[in-house]
Amino acid sequence: MRQKIAAGNWKMNLDSQKARELVTELSNTMTPSGVEVILACPALYLDMANTLASKNRKVHIAAQNVHDKDNGAYTGEISHEMLTSIGIKYALVGHSERREYFGEKPSFLRDKVSTLVNNGFTTIFCCGEPLKVRKSKKHKSFVAKQLKDSLFHLKEDQLKSIIVAYEPIWAIGTGVTASPAQAQEMHKFIRSEIRKKYSSQTAKNLSILYGGSVKPANASQLFSKADVDGGLVGGASLNAESFKKIINSF
Ligand code: 13P
Repeated sequence: MRQKIAAGNWKMNLDSQKARELVTELSNTMTPSGVEVILACPALYLDMANTLASKNRKVHIAAQNVHDKDNGAYTGEISHEMLTSIGIKYALVGHSERREYFGEKPSFLRDKVSTLVNNGFTTIFCCGEPLKVRKSKKHKSFVAKQLKDSLFHLKEDQLKSIIVAYEPIWAIGTGVTASPAQAQEMHKFIRSEIRKKYSSQTAKNLSILYGGSVKPANASQLFSKADVDGGLVGGASLNAESFKKIINSF
């Protein structure tokens, strides 16, 4: 069975004290069997969060961003070597906010994916279309291209360390969630693309998360869909009570 995952993406939120309290609370919480928790914290808190979370084997700390190079003159960036040195082995790549606000191009994301996979990271690869594309009904081909551009250079056995997160941009931070049927349709499509490129076994084993205004009130409906293996949660992951409800929604 593929892994069920509740992932939180804190983005650029929380001060150090609040971050500490949130990781402590979530690390002290029993996770339902078969469910793993991933917390993508701001870089500044990764070391602290990883130390606090180390007592709970089902809570993993992820970087929100990582550079593709091993080290060097890249002011402001963090490398996989640095993350590894503090025990971080999970990272997000391709979040729409990185693509849109920081101009991260598909070829750069492809290099980041390679670097992470080659260095033993579990990578959450984010994809998803803007509203205009959804309205023009080209959302499937848009997402297929994102996969092709930045993920499909991997060899089949490397897919084992990939988690895909489908995050339609029109649903991120807007309070508008994709309906469970819309999420299922796209997740099924993504899985079929993986099957076509690789194999049915690899497609079957891939966890595909939905992201975009996941809340305690809609999580269980979304997670009940056959191809939705969990969520990548922004706003509702910043509060322990609401994120715990989401973790318990499987
Ligand atoms: P929201 O849950 O705040 O819509 O954010 C989703 C997201 O972008 C997670 O990466």
